[in-house]
Amino acid sequence: MMFGSINNCHNVGDFRKLAKRRLPGPIFHYIDGAADDEITYRRNTEAFNQCDLVPNVLSGVDKVDMSTTVMGQKLDLPLYCAPTALQRLFHHEGEIAVAKAAEKHGTMFGISSLGTASIEEISQLVSSPKLFQLYVHKDKGLNNALIERCKEANFEAMAVTVDTAVGGNRERDLHTGFTIPMKLKLSSMFSFAFHPMWALNYFTKPKWELSNLKEHIREGTTVMTTIGDYFTKMLDNSLSWNDVEKINKQWGREFAIKGIMSVDDAKKAVDIGATAIMISNHGGRQLDGSRSPFDQLAEIVDAVGDKIDVICEGGIRRGTHVLKALSLGAKACSGGRMYLYALASGGQKGVERSLTNLRNEIERDMKLMGVSNIQELSTKNLKFR
Ligand code: LAC
Repeated sequence: MMFGSINNCHNVGDFRKLAKRRLPGPIFHYIDGAADDEITYRRNTEAFNQCDLVPNVLSGVDKVDMSTTVMGQKLDLPLYCAPTALQRLFHHEGEIAVAKAAEKHGTMFGISSLGTASIEEISQLVSSPKLFQLYVHKDKGLNNALIERCKEANFEAMAVTVDTAVGGNRERDLHTGFTIPMKLKLSSMFSFAFHPMWALNYFTKPKWELSNLKEHIREGTTVMTTIGDYFTKMLDNSLSWNDVEKINKQWGREFAIKGIMSVDDAKKAVDIGATAIMISNHGGRQLDGSRSPFDQLAEIVDAVGDKIDVICEGGIRRGTHVLKALSLGAKACSGGRMYLYALASGGQKGVERSLTNLRNEIERDMKLMGVSNIQELSTKNLKFR
């Protein structure tokens, strides 16, 4: 794929290969990498292969409806773009591209606290459902400002990420020296020279910033930091259920806790009045050796599935992965890398194409499974090996 184009990308893996060619090494490895030995990262996808789909036939599948309602939002497909940080580093269109592509597909888009487009900009840009992902910082004024800005900008939903008490051990980033803003070391210079289009865009388009944080803190915008140090030093690692309950009250709209892995915590999320949980291990980027979201899904749905929306986040590379998670009772799936490789490969057009590929897969797979709408999917459709 030396001169690859997004038109030749037929799945997430194809986009990954193209992104690897288009991005300077440190940036590709920031997206692609995970913690320690990356066992959890790999398991997140492999877990879907631990069970098989059992199709039914002859059930009239000329029309299929894959829409779902999650956090009170009707989505045209049961998959949305999870909030991820630093998107203008991957492609100069950044969050704007992802928000517009998600809107075209009638699905939700999440913007990160560490985003490179502002809450207000996104709000004016798209009318489809918007989720803000809150990292709770030590700086209480900053937390308060983010929540109030999202209210003002009519965001429908907020997710508090709870799996980042400290930075994960991302050894690829240690090897490449990845920081925000980018460090201009000799080795990065070579990397930029080999990726002139990326470098031209990065250095000529609007200046790098963490748009929603820059008024409060300089780290990440003008003061260089690694992501690991950022989590450890800037985020509130004394965060407790009590604090999250207070944030939910202050927010007062659709509220999710992102990064739940245990049944006990899923029950606590119900107790504090959250409307959704994202079963997630942060794409394997935090605690390596932890279970995969899909592996935890059945027992969490069993415990709280009738009280709260359960979202399966991480490892999604195929339509069949989505169908397997929905069969176990997830309301929707979400993912980061599944659209980030595409963003890096071709901006908005890339993300649109990646979502189209996944949508086509879900539709084809539903027809081959003999189901016309996703409510028909159940544990009866699955057999574990
Ligand atoms: C990550 C954060 C920023 O790098 O979400 O995983």
